Amino acid sequence: MKPTALLKEAPWADLPPRRTGRARAVPTMLSLDERRAYLWLAEHWATGEGAMVDLGCFAGGSTAHLAEGQRRAGRSGAIHAYDRFTISEALKEKHLYPAGIAPYEGEDLLGPARQLLAPWTDSIALHPGAIEEQVWDSTPIELLVMDASKTARTMDAMAKTFFPALIPGGSLIVQQDLLHLKTPWVAVQMARMRKWVRPVGHAPRDTVIFEVTRPLDEVAITAGRCRDLSDREMIAALEIMADQLAPLSLSEHAAALIASVRANPGVRLAWQMQPVSPNAERGPEGPRLNKALTLLRRLTR
Ligand SMILES: C[S@@+](CC[C@H](N)C(=O)[O-])C[C@H]1O[C@@H](n2cnc3c(N)ncnc32)[C@H](O)[C@@H]1O
Repeated sequence: MKPTALLKEAPWADLPPRRTGRARAVPTMLSLDERRAYLWLAEHWATGEGAMVDLGCFAGGSTAHLAEGQRRAGRSGAIHAYDRFTISEALKEKHLYPAGIAPYEGEDLLGPARQLLAPWTDSIALHPGAIEEQVWDSTPIELLVMDASKTARTMDAMAKTFFPALIPGGSLIVQQDLLHLKTPWVAVQMARMRKWVRPVGHAPRDTVIFEVTRPLDEVAITAGRCRDLSDREMIAALEIMADQLAPLSLSEHAAALIASVRANPGVRLAWQMQPVSPNAERGPEGPRLNKALTLLRRLTR
């Protein structure tokens, strides 16, 4: 079993931003803490025992931080990055053009991502298309980063394809959207797989890191399925997650996720999730939710 106790202390928290090297130039939606964590995990935690996989790499920012981390460690293992690799004009203007990509017509993101990831090209394989249609052979995965969890259906598909390749006692799942109020199914899936995975670290804003404790077999994948769950089942799983997150002092976030499910009955698509109203019916977790919202306001100030 690789040691994970250290991850609770966020050993990446004080890394100077310049340590991320050329990865800093690659556009990303990640926070600075998350970027530091990705770099640190690839440099100090990963050993090369398996591949690194980035599900939802957008223009390449997350992938670049993994690649730069392993380069710093003197390794050159395979990093597989998955995305549709399409982009809107608004996102091009926000993320690509300021990074030096010349303005262009159309929705393609694969060409720009290749260009931005050129410094690490030998170790990175880009896999364009819907993640639900991707396949994975039995190559072990040491570090699995998940940032394409916009629907409960995609969560289930990612688990089915990639989780069986995770190494018990030797892999981490980095759930970038675990605390995101628009994707409560991420925490639901992890809670329902609690016999197989355990939260061991946090990088603000929303990333929670899980260690894999047992082989993620068919029973585990079935246990974690979340697309057909009722709201009541979702909430029951989030109550369990609140307890699981207590050692990381994150239980209040689970209360906020419960409020988000209550405010969005039956919704399983992130872009249809409405923000939680401060006056919404909060149910029995009301006091915890108040604390959660106070904490979230403080973190995002
Ligand atoms: C929040 S962004 C990822 C940000 C990225 N990790 C970074 O460092 O900036 C989510 C990405 O997931 C991709 N995505 C979401 N659902 C997907 C799916 N079902 N198949 C393929 N890509 C998907 C989107 O295209 C988008 O680029």
